[in-house]
Amino acid sequence: MGKNIAVVGTGYVGLVTGVALSEIGHNVTCIDIDEKKVARMQQGESPIYEPGLDEIMKRSIEAGRLHFTTKHEEGFQGKEIAYIAVGTPEKEDGTADLRFIEAVAKDIAQNVKQDITVVTKSTVPVGTNDYVLKLVKENLAEDVSVDVVSNPEFLREGSAVYDAFNGDRIVIGASSVHAGDLLEEVNKPFGLPIFRTDVRSAEMIKYAANAFLATKIGFINEVANLCDRLEANVEDVAAGMGMDGRIGAQFLRPGHGYGGSCFPKDTSALVKLADAVGYEFDLLQAVVDGNKRQKLIMVDKAKEVIGSLKGKKIALLGLAFKPNTDDMRESPAIDISRELLLSGAEVTGYDPIAMENAPHFMPEGVDYVPSAEEALQGADAAILVTDWDEFKNLDMSVYENLMAAPLLFDGRNTYSRDVVATSNVEYYSVGRKPVNSEKKVEVR
Ligand code: UDX
Repeated sequence: MGKNIAVVGTGYVGLVTGVALSEIGHNVTCIDIDEKKVARMQQGESPIYEPGLDEIMKRSIEAGRLHFTTKHEEGFQGKEIAYIAVGTPEKEDGTADLRFIEAVAKDIAQNVKQDITVVTKSTVPVGTNDYVLKLVKENLAEDVSVDVVSNPEFLREGSAVYDAFNGDRIVIGASSVHAGDLLEEVNKPFGLPIFRTDVRSAEMIKYAANAFLATKIGFINEVANLCDRLEANVEDVAAGMGMDGRIGAQFLRPGHGYGGSCFPKDTSALVKLADAVGYEFDLLQAVVDGNKRQKLIMVDKAKEVIGSLKGKKIALLGLAFKPNTDDMRESPAIDISRELLLSGAEVTGYDPIAMENAPHFMPEGVDYVPSAEEALQGADAAILVTDWDEFKNLDMSVYENLMAAPLLFDGRNTYSRDVVATSNVEYYSVGRKPVNSEKKVEVR
């Protein structure tokens, strides 16, 4: 039987969670303070770009299982489970900001009129659920019993809907056996492996998983930088390493650094969390520092190849932190364009989806154009920032025909070197030998 569930916060995590829970038969009310956003969602319109989401939203709304409201009292009415899915942004000092979590905990306490299980989906420092339990209990308006469950999400942006139904595991860390059983029942219809543990271990699993994946990327990026200097091919190195089942082939794609809403924030938060208990997580700190450097490797390469970038017109292909999302958070495009502008270059940017979002994150002074072709027109060099399919499918002749000089810096190893070698494009990528560098394209 479907449960009555409230989900607070309708960002990536909250909305996808709410929609997925309604799809498997629960009665879900999503609560958000943003009236405009709620009005859109009530019409079945997703405020975020996430493949497949609109479709399920519409279906669940029509079936009467999915509701949206700004009114908290109404939202919590008759609910036995309340999910917290608000943001935990990074504070200036790198720690996680728990302001929104605290506000929701108090809100739940003030509004629930029956026993409640509070489930934290947001990524929170170890110990936060215990704090939430205390906060809710201290602020209760009615005499009801409260449990907490840490139930971290492992969704990737751009494939969040797919991941919700096909994830590797569902982690449940509950404050009581009863609450753990309840969450297991809620999640059973997903048909995914369920891993039960204590609250703090569940919180740690999320941080440790993200930190490990970030480290894996950081490691292959360092190896790529070495391959660059030693004339080895990182693609083959990664393939050969990945065949070892103990290592695994995933997350060994080198590039100009990871971005997004999770890895940068969660790695910093875990370093800080370690600090707070007197432990120095040096390995992870090195990953954080290495990633900052990595974001600029294509600009460094451009300076090496071109010399001064003053007055040079540079096209950025892709602005989002990865393909299939309009998310600009911590995208390498931001650091790259800042450095290019500081070096006196003229920067033109294009992204298939993130054009509306980009100016809010990018430095002032970037020129935006509506197509890759317009970005490349007359450009002295191009930096491929995000490996969208649209760019993968670009013929090398487009670079040759449109650019002032067909000089391409590919921060995502988007093209096969063999394909580039059939053209006149001078090509630099990450951890692979350049192509046509001996031809030395004349830069004006
Ligand atoms: C990540 C985790 O995968 C997910 O489990 C967690 O819930 C949230 O954080 P997401 O940020 O959406 O998801 O993106 P992901 O696809 O994991 O990529 C993160 C960043 O790493 C991107 O910038 C991507 O370009 C980069 N990356 C990924 C690499 O540079 N190389 C790789 O091999 C894989």
